[in-house]
Amino acid sequence: MLNQNALKQQAADAALDYVSEVAGPDVIIGVGTGSTADLFIDGLAAFKGRLRGAVASSERSAQRLAAHGIAVLDLNDVEHMPIYVDGADEINAALHMIKGGGGALTREKIVASVADRFICIADESKLVQTLGAFPLPLEVIPMATQAVARAMIALGGQPKVREGFVTDNGNIILDVAGLSIADGADFEARVNHIPGVVTCGLFALAGADVALLATQQGIRKLTASGS
Ligand code: 5RP
Repeated sequence: MLNQNALKQQAADAALDYVSEVAGPDVIIGVGTGSTADLFIDGLAAFKGRLRGAVASSERSAQRLAAHGIAVLDLNDVEHMPIYVDGADEINAALHMIKGGGGALTREKIVASVADRFICIADESKLVQTLGAFPLPLEVIPMATQAVARAMIALGGQPKVREGFVTDNGNIILDVAGLSIADGADFEARVNHIPGVVTCGLFALAGADVALLATQQGIRKLTASGS
């Protein structure tokens, strides 16, 4: 019986197959944040001579990449990335996700938006029917904390400030519990429109293209196209 860490390792290893498909001296990989992304970064070290480098979605991932000797590029110097690899807190069959458990949701959404394909790596426990059991993280401008909290209560949520946490961008995180998100794209658009919300941790307007979900029986691959 594989424990959760071994399952995360399996998912991270599976993403390395995608790296080997696209690797080349000019190729830059987008890299996410979290414990599963950390394992992916460790595996990426084997490719460092065959890649130009990586763009990180957090200071934490940038440090880990650099510690492996992988060049960390500024997104402003990068026009194209074939893949972005990251974990998720929840993912559904449509490959819509809740992300931001590590508080890196804004940079994750930005880096992912520049990549051709989002490859989500997770253990199968992250697969849910309905998003929302995991509290939805929002990155919020500090002065808007209470206004955004009231707006989220009006949308049926129970917001809570993540204590003692400041994002890489100097903002706060509101974790919104009690949601059951039937239409992810519509809900994401509504939350995005609340003044003071920098980023909503719902990735539905642009979800993952591929999910590599580790199970006791091996990798289960889901694709947005269903193929
Ligand atoms: C960080 C994230 C992570 O991808 C998410 O929290 C999953 O983390 P882990 O791989 O540790 O379970 O969105 O902001």
